[in-house]
Amino acid sequence: MAPYVTLIEEGLAPFVGEHELDYIRPQAEAACAQLRAGTGPGAEFLGWLDLPVKVAEHIEAVQQAAAEIQTRAEVLVVVGIGGSYLGARAALDALTDEFATGSVRVLFAGHNLSSTYHARLLDYLADKDFCVNVISKSGTTTEPAIAFRLLRELLEKKYGRDGARRRIYATTDAGRGALRAMAEQEGYASFVIPADIGGRYSVLTPVGLLPMAAGGLDIARLVQGAHRAMEELQAPELADNPCYRYAALRNILLRKGKLVELLAMYEPCLHTFGEWWKQLFGESEGKDGKGLFPASVVFSTDLHSLGQYIQDGARILFETVLYIKETSRQVTIPHLEDDLDQLNYLAGKSMEFVNSCAFRGTLQAHVQGGTPNIVLELPELSEYSLGYLFYFMKKACAISGYLLGVNPFIQQGVEAYKQNMFALLGKPKREQGGVVG
Ligand code: PA5
Repeated sequence: MAPYVTLIEEGLAPFVGEHELDYIRPQAEAACAQLRAGTGPGAEFLGWLDLPVKVAEHIEAVQQAAAEIQTRAEVLVVVGIGGSYLGARAALDALTDEFATGSVRVLFAGHNLSSTYHARLLDYLADKDFCVNVISKSGTTTEPAIAFRLLRELLEKKYGRDGARRRIYATTDAGRGALRAMAEQEGYASFVIPADIGGRYSVLTPVGLLPMAAGGLDIARLVQGAHRAMEELQAPELADNPCYRYAALRNILLRKGKLVELLAMYEPCLHTFGEWWKQLFGESEGKDGKGLFPASVVFSTDLHSLGQYIQDGARILFETVLYIKETSRQVTIPHLEDDLDQLNYLAGKSMEFVNSCAFRGTLQAHVQGGTPNIVLELPELSEYSLGYLFYFMKKACAISGYLLGVNPFIQQGVEAYKQNMFALLGKPKREQGGVVG
């Protein structure tokens, strides 16, 4: 059976020769073998590898909590930052209809320190029935901790202390951190982030699954997609395994002086998926003075802003286009008698067709302009395909990190700003240790 996703490499032909893949093959195979055997750096954080199997036993409990939230609330506020919110937000943005009303609205807090953002959110929630899912693996991260304090105060004002407790769902480590202690003391419903799974690899744990389910997504189907990726992306040969091949190709391009990888998408609802992907690769690879800088664009929107640079600026970029073969909804361009806008030449054509021409025309232009293109084609946009894609990218990132010679499961660089901020805030020294989130 052919893999669920297809890697199309025509846009690489002028830049990467097949022999270069032959040369990197032994290193890529060694990286894959390290990952499989658990002998590479950060091997204590490989719990995500077989998560699509292990998480099955938790799905029912997550769905039950989600159903409870749906009966109690019109809004769910998800409190978290980095890996503790981006996966859920990516899936919800990709798969829910932003113009529809009816189901629980999922909002986010604690992913910034903006008083304007949080004041507006508190105003909005004042007359809403809401629940909170507070998510932090370390249980000590400042941004979500502040937001949670604000929301807890509002919940207690609205529903009393006991009522508030019944509206709070905590997702955190099994035993350590302030959030776990608080959940135990206050009796919040709680879910566990396994110790062997880091934040940005946790989208298929309750971290991602509970907000997604509360927002109406079919999480069982999402996990099925990830399960397929887990099984399919074990093929040892680069030729048969698009995930290994992608990891190898991006390393070849980096070694040839391409410093920036642009993830390009033609569906605006995938914007937040780009944010999740940026965090995954940026935190995993950007260390020890190495790594591709991950950036993302949504076309054709950004062809009217960054398109000029991609076509004609410094030749430091390559693009990975995430292309959805069949969109879920069709819009046909109507025929109008007056043809004032001179668009009758498109009458009867679908917008999807126009979008696909933009994709093909752009690819050609960018390749001619000196920007290598890798295309990763997904048959559709659904829970299943997104589950597959989350797993695909996590595995590609781990292999890519090993090929690069870094530990893709730590993020020591994130601590630097925190230490300075804590000093400026006057945080007591004994509380500054925390666990690296
Ligand atoms: O990938 C990571 O580990 C980080 O980006 C964390 O997800 C982020 O820092 C939030 O940490 P925590 O969940 O501990 O609050």
